[in-house]
Amino acid sequence: MTQDEMKRKVAEAALKYVKQGTIVGVGTGSTANMFIDALASMKDDIIGAVASSEATAVRLAGHGITVLDLNKALTKVDSLSVYIDGADEFDAGKNLTKGGGGALTREKIVAAASDAFICIVDESKQVEHLGAFPLPIEVIPMARELVAGIVVGLGGTPKVREGYTTDNGNIIIDVHGLKITDARELEDELNSIPGVVTNGIFSHQGADVVLMGTADGVKTIR
Ligand code: A5P
Repeated sequence: MTQDEMKRKVAEAALKYVKQGTIVGVGTGSTANMFIDALASMKDDIIGAVASSEATAVRLAGHGITVLDLNKALTKVDSLSVYIDGADEFDAGKNLTKGGGGALTREKIVAAASDAFICIVDESKQVEHLGAFPLPIEVIPMARELVAGIVVGLGGTPKVREGYTTDNGNIIIDVHGLKITDARELEDELNSIPGVVTNGIFSHQGADVVLMGTADGVKTIR
């Protein structure tokens, strides 16, 4: 089975976590895109979806799925029923790194507004320790050098993502070579640097369930 076929299978498997009459949070990336395509078959069963990026909003709308602003959605319901998104890495504790597509901040916000986070990945995303994938940090532009310097002090090698601006008008610094031994501690430490909007460690907002596509089918990791 190809990687794309594995992604397609987990995207379709995630449909069973979508409850009728609810608002669904939708992530960003190639796997999330396949979920959006699958969700089109249920568009009349849900109130709508909250997108974690402009790209996701466009794809949802293209399928005729109602796209709701998060603030508007939270005036209708206490929380979104589920958040469905991919990841760049996941570990045995269902901690994630995300943000390869640059949408980490809105992804974290929508995940935090949801009752459950169903993470959809192919088996290449499973790791023993997070950090082999360069860790994205969304940074307010004037804090670029401040944040980069502090990251070097933490043992990482920062690289500004060239020619990229987030949906929030900020830059992304990708940090190479970090050894992430305590995901939660590092998530908090990076987020405490002035100018950091958020970083791509999802430990506080880790997955509740990981659906992993393998050559033998979809595995559910609870
Ligand atoms: C987007 O900002 C990321 O967090 C994605 O969720 C992540 O990069 C996974 O993307 P793919 O599904 O394309 O691998």
